[in-house]
Amino acid sequence: MGEMVAMDRSKMLGTQIATMALLVFCFSGAIAAGKVPTVIIVGAGMSGISAAKALSDKGVKDILILEATNRVGGRMWKTNFAGLSVEMGANWVEGVGGSEMNPIWEMANRLHLQTFYSNFDNLSSNTYKQVGGLYEEFVTQKAIDLGEKLSGQSENISKFLSAHGLEDISILASQRLQNKVPSTPMEMAIDYYNYDCEFAEPPQVTSLRNTQPLPTFSNFGEDVHFVADPRGYESVVHYLAKQFLTINKSGIINDPRLLLNKVVTEIRHSPSGVIVKTEDGSIYRAKYAMISTSIGVLQTDLINFQPKLPTWKMLAIDQFDMAIYTKIFLKFSKKFWPSGNGTEFFLYVHEKRGYYTVWQQMEREYPGANVLLVTVTGDESRRIEQQPDSETKAEIMAVLRDMFGKNIPEATHILVPKWWSNRFYKGTFSNWPIGVSRFEFDQIRAPVGRVYFTGEHTSEHYNGYVHGAYLAGIDSANMMISCMGKGKCTYHHVDSKGT
Ligand SMILES: Cc1cc2nc3c(=O)[nH]c(=O)nc-3n(C[C@H](O)[C@H](O)[C@H](O)COP(=O)(O)OP(=O)(O)OC[C@H]3O[C@@H](n4cnc5c(N)ncnc54)[C@H](O)[C@@H]3O)c2cc1C
Ligand SMILES: *[C@@H]1O[C@H](CO)[C@@H](O)[C@H](O)[C@H]1NC(C)=O
Ligand SMILES: *[C@@H]1O[C@H](CO)[C@@H](O)[C@H](O)[C@H]1NC(C)=O
Ligand SMILES: *[C@@H]1O[C@H](CO)[C@@H](O)[C@H](O)[C@H]1NC(C)=O
Ligand SMILES: *[C@@H]1O[C@H](CO)[C@@H](O)[C@H](O)[C@H]1NC(C)=O
Repeated sequence: MGEMVAMDRSKMLGTQIATMALLVFCFSGAIAAGKVPTVIIVGAGMSGISAAKALSDKGVKDILILEATNRVGGRMWKTNFAGLSVEMGANWVEGVGGSEMNPIWEMANRLHLQTFYSNFDNLSSNTYKQVGGLYEEFVTQKAIDLGEKLSGQSENISKFLSAHGLEDISILASQRLQNKVPSTPMEMAIDYYNYDCEFAEPPQVTSLRNTQPLPTFSNFGEDVHFVADPRGYESVVHYLAKQFLTINKSGIINDPRLLLNKVVTEIRHSPSGVIVKTEDGSIYRAKYAMISTSIGVLQTDLINFQPKLPTWKMLAIDQFDMAIYTKIFLKFSKKFWPSGNGTEFFLYVHEKRGYYTVWQQMEREYPGANVLLVTVTGDESRRIEQQPDSETKAEIMAVLRDMFGKNIPEATHILVPKWWSNRFYKGTFSNWPIGVSRFEFDQIRAPVGRVYFTGEHTSEHYNGYVHGAYLAGIDSANMMISCMGKGKCTYHHVDSKGT
């Protein structure tokens, strides 16, 4: 402590002295209250809990987790929707059935989470016109075939670029190279389903080299399974948490090393330690900090780093994308859409690309509840977050009347999650844009002094996913432990060639 004060004093000016005096004062209080932990982990989502568990497993048990909200789980977040448990955040275990086992799938199975295999094969018979009614199967199939041909060839182009050390291009550029840019409303709907629905950003933004092929699917398998369980998808985070945090007799985490409702607003760091300040005025000290907040949060000034993060770090953080994916749930008094095998997913084709395009009926997941899910992304998500839900509902009802006729009932309930406006998320998941090399991407997770970084956006191969957050937590914890052992950290980037 003396060392840190001495170091900071050399930089102090005028009013900062008063701030510092206050810091030292509160800080003595914190010391009196208990032992100084080795690591403060900011955020109790999948990556923060995974990192904390990995540290704990390796003997670093004097940790303190500070979470801004009143819950554990972060972007895995169930809510009660008209008496049903639905997921506002992550919903699928993505990447199942391949050569490697997705660790999240293993946990979901161990917990016997109720999941449903998603079969998209019959979309060609379930695609609706803007003017109403279904397209003939062969019309949709033609657009689907085109999409498959384009993405197959895009993967070849991607491999070609890598093999020849050429610059990255966008997915759209790879379509242009093939002289076939999806442009009819139907082609755009399929293109939106293929890309925006996975990355939540359009093909002109998304990196070809880093998404085609996508390691999630090539390593873990092509299948995706939808979680619909009263315990919520977040129960996999709780499952991990309860392996190293204490619980009370009702199974609720009551470990003093986890503090909820603690919004971290400042992190002072020096070669001798970190001082973390929360919005309620508390001050915590530790040897190291591990930041697990979303890259969307890191792109804002919610957390004030002192000294500021270096330019190379800020450039890498700001250059990556936080995408927005909005899952709108609707409930009706009766069912007016087809149900049964091969009808779960359907598309709506509109001249405006991405206008309420992708639909799912939830008869399997919530039998008899008459629930639909429609997904929007990007600019549409931003627009919808800023208008009243009643307007969104009116737009959606007009779309449904286009598809199913005028005599359908009004939705009785609507749920519009607002991830972008939420200062603790600022979007839903990261997406790899063109213009970010693997070297620059790796700088996002590189530690700065005693401050370490984790989160889905730091996952070496699986950014944007739950398994990415889980594996990133383990990687960041291991990195911290190996640096602690050496007493300092020489960080080796993944690829120093900067390709
Ligand atoms: C709508 C949506 C759909 C998705 N769909 C899927 C899917 O189907 N399949 C899939 O695999 N993945 C999906 N994802 C992505 C997946 O949810 C995330 O990759 C993963 O949950 C991120 O975990 P994390 O620990 O990196 O971040 P987070 O879960 O964001 O955890 C960070 C924690 O930090 C907290 N925090 C933020 N600021 C502060 C602060 N200043 N002080 C203290 N705490 C703070 C937050 O409250 C949060 O709890 C989806 C995400 C969303 C939002
Ligand atoms: C991609 O490359 C492979 C191997 O060279 C080839 O067999 C395949 O036909 C190509 N795919 C497309 C869609 O061109
Ligand atoms: C466990 O903790 C929860 C939340 O603090 C509390 O509501 C519950 O009563 C506790 N159960 C027991 C058995 O102490
Ligand atoms: C739906 O498909 C499954 C598996 O293919 C089959 O077991 C089931 O009987 C089918 N249900 C109906 C209603 O056709
Ligand atoms: C495909 O969808 C159509 C239209 O909803 C449906 O009639 C048909 O049974 C489905 N086919 C299969 C194989 O599931």
